[in-house]
Formats: sequence, structure tokens, C-alpha cells
Amino acid sequence: MSSVITNDRIPNNVHLADDRKLQRALEAWQPRFIDWWCDMGPEGFQQDQIYLRTATSVDAKGWAHFDYVKMPDYRWGIFLADPVQDRKIGFGDNMGRDVWQTVPGEHRNALRRLIVTQGDTEPASVEQQRLLGKTCPSLYDLRNLFQVNVEEGRHLWAMVYLLHSHFGRDGREEAEGLLERRSGDEDKPRILGAFNEPCSHWLSFFCFTYFTDRDGKYQLLALAESGFDALSRTTRFMLTEEAHHMFVGETGLLRVIQRTLELMEKNPNDDARDEGGIDLPMLQRYVNLWYSVSLDLFGGEISSNAAAYFASGLKGRCKESKFEEHTALDQFYEMQVPQDDGTLATEEIPLRTAMNEVLRDEYVDDSQRGLDKMNRLIAEAGYDFRLKLASTRFNRAAGIYAGMPFDPEGNLLSKEDFDARKNDWLPSEEDEAYVKSLMTEPIYEPGKMANWIAAPNRGIKGAPADFEYVKRQA
Ligand SMILES: [Fe+2]
Ligand SMILES: [Fe+2]
Repeated sequence: MSSVITNDRIPNNVHLADDRKLQRALEAWQPRFIDWWCDMGPEGFQQDQIYLRTATSVDAKGWAHFDYVKMPDYRWGIFLADPVQDRKIGFGDNMGRDVWQTVPGEHRNALRRLIVTQGDTEPASVEQQRLLGKTCPSLYDLRNLFQVNVEEGRHLWAMVYLLHSHFGRDGREEAEGLLERRSGDEDKPRILGAFNEPCSHWLSFFCFTYFTDRDGKYQLLALAESGFDALSRTTRFMLTEEAHHMFVGETGLLRVIQRTLELMEKNPNDDARDEGGIDLPMLQRYVNLWYSVSLDLFGGEISSNAAAYFASGLKGRCKESKFEEHTALDQFYEMQVPQDDGTLATEEIPLRTAMNEVLRDEYVDDSQRGLDKMNRLIAEAGYDFRLKLASTRFNRAAGIYAGMPFDPEGNLLSKEDFDARKNDWLPSEEDEAYVKSLMTEPIYEPGKMANWIAAPNRGIKGAPADFEYVKRQA
């Protein structure tokens, strides 16, 4: 195993050339991936030169190389984090045993399901974002969009490698399926709900990379604990790429807010919308939407699957070693559970069964940290408005609160009261039309920004403000 990534047809650090059968299978999948990328990847930019980072090593420091590349020539490949010597399973019933280098027969179906579910989200997000380049607010943002897109493509490679190398014919069939499903398609949708939602403008893109990529971070952190060592090492390297996606989301939202505050100050009535900006209550509605659909991705609050994954050592808690006790037996999680009469009652749920909720709690705290930064910006400008995370019961489509009319504070309303106030809490068709009306034209002039967003504090890799991140081919 080497931390350096080869220059082979499929770049890798797993000595792929030593396994001819696997290499041939992946080389047969590669052109199908490129076909998918050209069909479903960013539309209208495939011939342009984009200033992108590519992994050249999996070392903690300096793993990326920055240069211009056409997206179809991006070096997608297989990059695993270095192995940890004598690694043991850190939780569940198999705690203390050596980690698995091959898939244990009794966990084969569960592992395949975990890998396919994770893998399906990666191409799905590329599909959701494929038209955004045509309305980009700047070349800087256009480049960031494409960086996120090519790395999601790379994450698909990461999961396909596991399927091909460890799951035989089933794995190869699943790898084909990952290229066949389509985000939002009625007949062959992507597996998870949030990945079928339209991401039709840049405000949704920043909310997606803030909230939905952050779900990805927590899923990867839980899988990084896996007793299946190849999955752990794959997800550990994916996490280093994922950090940039959340940076794009967080700084994107901060820049929207900064610009909104500038426009409010300029306007006699503090009305950002009057100045062609995105007002803070509207931003709150988009936060509510993307936060709630991302909460669904963690799965049911009470889940026998989650319990089984934990028991068998397939999926742990985020940073399992920080917990004192690792079997999660004879422990309980207090949860507000809807009763038959429509009220909520506190119930003690066996901890293993509540593992999705344990992971969701970490996600909620992490989501709040960025919101605190946004609220500091608003406070410093002298305004009273504060962005809030809704109750985890609000607008849920999965789990024990699914379809119940809770308000953002978590109070259960009548269906009529909820419907009457829905447009105060979630983006309406008018909101969608307004946000899109701000983003009808792309901005390709180096250094220029759309009116509704502030410039970034610094460029990528210290590039100057007017750096040409994307060289358009006329
Ligand atoms: Fe990803
Ligand atoms: Fe991501």
C-alpha cells in the first residue's frame, strides 16, 4: 500500500495493476462512467479548462495538485487512506476482534446495502446540479461547483471499487445500477428523497452543500468506524474531500448574508429585496427546507437496521472512540414519540435502536455552529433577525414524525393551521420564481459578482480576486 497515487489509466493507490481481473472489470466500467458524466454532468462546460484540484497522494498534508483540466479528463480514481496497523473492531458484538479485510458472508447483504445507498447519493447530486453553471454568480463559484461535482464523481468511484472488488457479480450489477438511476426520475429515481429534490438555483445549491453534504460527512464518519476495513479506509479519504463541499456551502451562505446586509443598509426601508437581494426571511425558508430534507437522510429515529449495523460492527457512531462504552447494551435514549392519540410521550428507546438519532444529534450541533457564525454577521450589522434551525420534527418525510404537521418550534398543529402557514416556513412557488429571477444570466467576467452575493474573502489557493478560474471555450 502506498500513499502516492499512480498515473495509470485508473489512478489508484491500491496496486490495481496487480489484480488483472479487477483492473479489467473497472476498465470496462470506466467508459460507461464517462458516458454518464457527459450526459448527466455539468451541461455546457465539458470542453472548458477548469482550475481544479486533483489528489496526488493520500497524505494528511499536501495531497492535492491544482491545475487547469477539462472535466472529462479529470483523474477519477481509487484512493484509500493508509491502513491503521492492527486495527480492531471498536464497537458492537464483535468489539476487539481484528477488522475484516474481506466481507464476512453473514454481513454481505447489509454491507452491500450500505455501500450502494452511500454510492447512489454521489452521482445523484451531480445530476441535481447539472444546470447550475448556466446561472453562476461568478467564475469563482462556477469553479467551486465543478470541484464539488468532480469529487462526487470520485466518490462514486470509491463505492464502485468496493462493489467490484468485494461483491462479485452482484457488486458489478449494483455498479451498473448506480449509473442507471436518475435524480427525480419517476420510474428509476435515486434511492433517497433529498437526492430527488430539484436543486434549481444557487441559493438551493449553497443550502444543499451546507446541509445535505453535511449529512454525507456524518454518514462517512459513521462508516469510517466500520469493521470492514476497506470501507473505513475509503470513507476516511472521502471525508478530506467532503470538507471542501461544506466550505462551499458555509461560505456561500455567509456571502449571501453579507450582501443582503449591505443591501439592507443601502435601502431606506432596510429592504434587501427592493435592491435585488435575498431577504433574510426568505433565506430562513430555504434553510428550513434543506435542513428538514437532510434530516430525513439519517433514517428512522427507531431503527432495527441501525441496531443491526451497530451490533455487527458495520456502522459505528461518529468518532466512536470518544464514547466511554462501546456495546450500547442496557442503555436507553429518551425520545419524544408520537402516540396513537396524536400526543407526544417520552419513551426510553434501547440505544442501539436509536443509533440514527444519535448520529442526527451530532449533525444538528454541527449545523448550528455555522448558523451561529451567520447570526454573528447579522448581529454585527446591527439587525435583530436571527436564523434558526427548525425542530427535528418539522417537515419530515421519513421516520416517526413523517407527514405530521409540526411547526418549526416542534408544536403539533392541525393540518388546516399548518397549511395556512406553510408559506411562512417553506419556500413557495413565488419564492422560487423570485430567486430564479435574480439568476437569469451567468457571470463569466473574472472578478465580477452577481448583485445578490458578496465576493469571497480570498481566492482558491491564494489566487487573486480576478483570477480566471474557468477558461471558456467559445
Ligand atoms: Fe460525496
Ligand atoms: Fe459532497
